[in-house]
Amino acid sequence: MTGGTLSRRDMLRGSAASGAGLLWPGVAHSEGGAAGLGDIAAKAGILFGSTMDKANEADPAYAKLFDRHTKLIVTENATKFSFLQPHQGVYDFSVVDGVLDYAKAHGKKAHAAALIWNDDAPNWLKGRPGREIERIFDAHIERVVSRYAGRFISWEAVNEPFFPVQGKPGGYRDGPWFAAMGPSYIPRALRRVASIDKSARLVVNEAFCESNHEWGRANRPLFKGLADRLLDDGVPLHAVGFQSHLISSWSYDDHAFQAYVAEFGARGLDVYLSELDVNDEVLPEDNAVRDKMVARRYQDYLTAVLAVPAVKRVVTWGLADRYSWWRYMTWEKSTNAARLARPLPFDDDMKRKPAYDAMARAFEARRA
Ligand code: G3I
Repeated sequence: MTGGTLSRRDMLRGSAASGAGLLWPGVAHSEGGAAGLGDIAAKAGILFGSTMDKANEADPAYAKLFDRHTKLIVTENATKFSFLQPHQGVYDFSVVDGVLDYAKAHGKKAHAAALIWNDDAPNWLKGRPGREIERIFDAHIERVVSRYAGRFISWEAVNEPFFPVQGKPGGYRDGPWFAAMGPSYIPRALRRVASIDKSARLVVNEAFCESNHEWGRANRPLFKGLADRLLDDGVPLHAVGFQSHLISSWSYDDHAFQAYVAEFGARGLDVYLSELDVNDEVLPEDNAVRDKMVARRYQDYLTAVLAVPAVKRVVTWGLADRYSWWRYMTWEKSTNAARLARPLPFDDDMKRKPAYDAMARAFEARRA
């Protein structure tokens, strides 16, 4: 991985956010009897899902939780280039195959994340000439999309096109695809996927836009401009994804973001909240207090953004804290981390947390 992963640590710096508590009074927080989030969301016209991957697919408790609460399964890592083709010409389809088998057996839809992402490229690509990189890019898309055509309802053809702090022209995120092809790698990926899988929805996904942090403020106009150009040029694009990793030390204006999201709807695009979670690193130590503040963040954000009719999906980046990527981030920073991230609607024991109620309440508010 390139500097993107390191830069994400910067997300955690900053001042603490404040937030009032939130709980549904009288709701016991055990998993038994809880209505499925996917069912509640469906009544609001939202397809709700979460991620499954190598780390958690073998856990029967997670599978049970997943089965109850989701309608959509998203590949957290398995459809990324470096996971699918770790060595040149050597493909590993085993995890994707497993995820799709699970989806079929359990009646879930499936979405492929981050097919092309400049931050995810294997070392073997380094130093190759541009023409060869282009050939590898085309061949990889051809091979992967042909294998799975008709099985994913959507492909996130390109993830995170922008990262202006890297200083590249146009604010584009740097990496092998951008270095070899410039911004043309984006329509190239979309057109190529569309030519192979004729039924899938095609998505471009972006980070930070939902925040007022300087990275969010910089990404917003760039990403909107890209979507406009793609549509104007007749490039196949059906939806945009906003990752929605909400960072407790950053500032947000959910209503301003709501207006921004509506602009994509006005151009006929669907909008997906594609990697939702709440980073709690700067929130108070006490788990109960922290959980309520996290829940409040879910509720405020979702209530504002779900008011936009173009929003059609909500995906949390994992369902249970035990498998959150923020845990890995914490461990990377300190192998001795006593305080574990609690960013998701279910805890380590797959019990529901106040964030579950917050999500349910936001979905129900959209129905009203
Ligand atoms: O599976 C291997 C394991 O066998 C090995 O022992 C271990 C040693 O490092 O690595 C494991 O792979 C890790 C993988 O997650 C599975 O846990 C990779 O090192 C690690 O880099 C990878 O991180 C993923 C990260 O993207 C980079 O690809 C996270 O799981 C994943 O949640 C995260 O997701 C991204 C989205 O794709 C894009 N938006 C931001 C989001 C968070 O960074």
